Amino acid sequence: MNKHIFLPLALGLALMAGCNDVSTELKTPEYKTGLTKDETRTSVFAKQFPSQYASYMKNNESEVMTKYKGSIAFHKEDEINPLPEGFKQGSQPYLKNLWLGYPFSYEYNEARGHTYAIEDIVNIDRHDRFSADGKGHMPATCWNCKTPHMMNWIKEYGDKFWAMDFNTFRPKDMISTDESISCPTCHDPQTMSLRPYSEPLQDWLKRSGQDWSKLSRNEKRTLVCAQCHVEYYFIAKGNGPHQRPVFPWDLGKTPEAFWEYYKTHGPKDANGKETPFTDFVHAASKVNIIKMQHPDYETHQDGPHGAAGVACADCHMQFIREDGKKVSSHWMTSPMKDKEMRACRQCHADKTAEYLRGRVHYIQDKVYEKLLNAEAMSVKAHEAVRLANNWSGERDPNYEKLMMEAREMVRKGQMFWDYVSAENSMGFHNPTKQLNTCMTSFESSQKAIDLACQATMYGIAPALAGDIRDIVPPIRQLSRKLQQDGEFLQQHPWTRLLPVKPQHKQVWDGQVWIGDGSQPDMLRSMK
Ligand code: HEC
Ligand code: HEC
Ligand code: HEC
Ligand code: HEC
Repeated sequence: MNKHIFLPLALGLALMAGCNDVSTELKTPEYKTGLTKDETRTSVFAKQFPSQYASYMKNNESEVMTKYKGSIAFHKEDEINPLPEGFKQGSQPYLKNLWLGYPFSYEYNEARGHTYAIEDIVNIDRHDRFSADGKGHMPATCWNCKTPHMMNWIKEYGDKFWAMDFNTFRPKDMISTDESISCPTCHDPQTMSLRPYSEPLQDWLKRSGQDWSKLSRNEKRTLVCAQCHVEYYFIAKGNGPHQRPVFPWDLGKTPEAFWEYYKTHGPKDANGKETPFTDFVHAASKVNIIKMQHPDYETHQDGPHGAAGVACADCHMQFIREDGKKVSSHWMTSPMKDKEMRACRQCHADKTAEYLRGRVHYIQDKVYEKLLNAEAMSVKAHEAVRLANNWSGERDPNYEKLMMEAREMVRKGQMFWDYVSAENSMGFHNPTKQLNTCMTSFESSQKAIDLACQATMYGIAPALAGDIRDIVPPIRQLSRKLQQDGEFLQQHPWTRLLPVKPQHKQVWDGQVWIGDGSQPDMLRSMK
């Protein structure tokens, strides 16, 4: 975006907030820390920046919930077990069904503070902790958004890093929790100026002809978050450095633009043409699915606040006054955890906290309702295509063509609800866009069902009549361990479709090897 629009806006907003000190400067203040340029730890900054360090440590708070969000790492699909104090948890009961055949169906939790990033990634069931060879069976790319240590690994391994196994870097002698998302994630450790360490963001800036040093302070106050709070994918084999992360923004940042973008970027076919990009094949419908990942920045940038030039930091890193000076709160959490909603009232000074909270809940309630409907319709679309795939009765003469379209619509329906679901504000960052996206999802899934019915001359229609929650109930439980249990898998019409995994015990507990024998040396075995 254009700096000429943004500089006055940034100033205008700062004046609106009645600020002085750091908040009205044109540039982020600079320092001389005397630290090395490849420093990656958090603790070493405590002495020189006690205020920012102290507020950053508040990211350890992990017990306060808001109506839909907050910092308890609950399982996002769990609608049964109540959270402390009876909070409604905004759970999405169909998530395990919708990701069946993909590790997201084993475990997917609500986000908590940045200080937990390493701890949470080594404890989640998405990386394989049960493997015979000790591998995580996921690319090392996952580390990109958990630690600035990335920069040192890239220096050492170059583009070979991405396709290395995730578990290579799991043990404590490889990575320490002090290097979880830390000061050097957003700051040059020598000057504390804002900088992007993230490779995919740097690639995007280059691709779109933008020079970081020429961007406005306000743009940087958003873009440091856009290093990670964005949709991304990993480069397919044969299309460039394998598993390198890329932001798919070349056609735009809307779900419609992503939908077009992902019609290519998969592995090349026999004719050298890129196939549609696919994250996984759904176990019930066998449709090729694109998984969305937290498009927070993309959703925000064309929403009411983003379009008006409000930065992520304005709401998630509000200015606080300490010893007569204004500093940025580094407790990057829900602004709703503050009863007074002070982050918002920096600008909306004429409004009460109750009013503002009410507006957020109004938006979130509406988006949540439509999101659940879109997810349920998506489940029905997968079931319709599953039934039609197996249909042995009379088929429409155009069966193949109709089914191709039906599968395309299942893929679209799923990508669109996931754009809203994976986004972290339950609609608040961009209410209109998120409701519209839910609606497009719903329409696409409905279309898929119509097409599958038509392809089978309505043969499958009776099996789909009635409430989808009776036909395909939510899958309550599934994990890597449970997938080793053939009897357990028989209990649900969809888990029955999964292959039983070989019996194998857990070999990693967090960062510690608990398998038989000594910990495998994955760096050596790579060579
Ligand atoms: C996720 C990104 C991010 C992380 C991590 C981060 N900061 Fe910041 N920091 C910012 C942003 C954004 C600003 C606001 C810059 C501006 O207003 O121009 C900021 C501002 C600052 C400032 C300038 C004065 C102020 O308070 O506005 C200092 C000093 C600072 N941070 C220190 C730290 C330290 C120390 C850590 C680690 C404990 C840290 N930061 C971690 C993003 C981050
Ligand atoms: C290096 C990648 C990275 C960057 C940069 C980053 N985040 Fe995050 N953020 C994460 C991850 C990962 C989590 C989830 C951590 C967990 O649950 O263990 C998270 C969680 C959060 C949460 C949820 C906290 C809670 O208490 O529930 C908020 C809010 C947030 N980030 C805001 C921001 C803002 C604002 C910025 C920019 C100033 C930013 N993030 C920059 C990766 C990043
Ligand atoms: C106008 C204020 C505002 C701006 C600007 C804003 N957010 Fe938010 N954000 C919110 C609100 C309100 C929520 C919902 C919190 C809740 O329900 O508890 C939220 C939620 C989140 C969450 C989830 C918090 C949690 O508790 O899990 C993340 C992550 C997040 N925002 C990141 C960002 C990023 C990244 C940007 C910039 C691209 C951004 N936000 C811009 C107000 C804002
Ligand atoms: C940096 C200033 C700033 C901050 C901080 C801020 N807002 Fe806003 N807010 C704006 C601007 C600018 C607009 C757009 C006004 C317009 O378009 O006329 C806006 C619009 C709104 C709207 C109407 C648009 C919509 O989404 O329905 C609501 C509601 C709102 N803000 C709530 C909040 C809440 C809640 C917070 C805190 C989580 C917050 N704002 C934080 C500046 C801010």
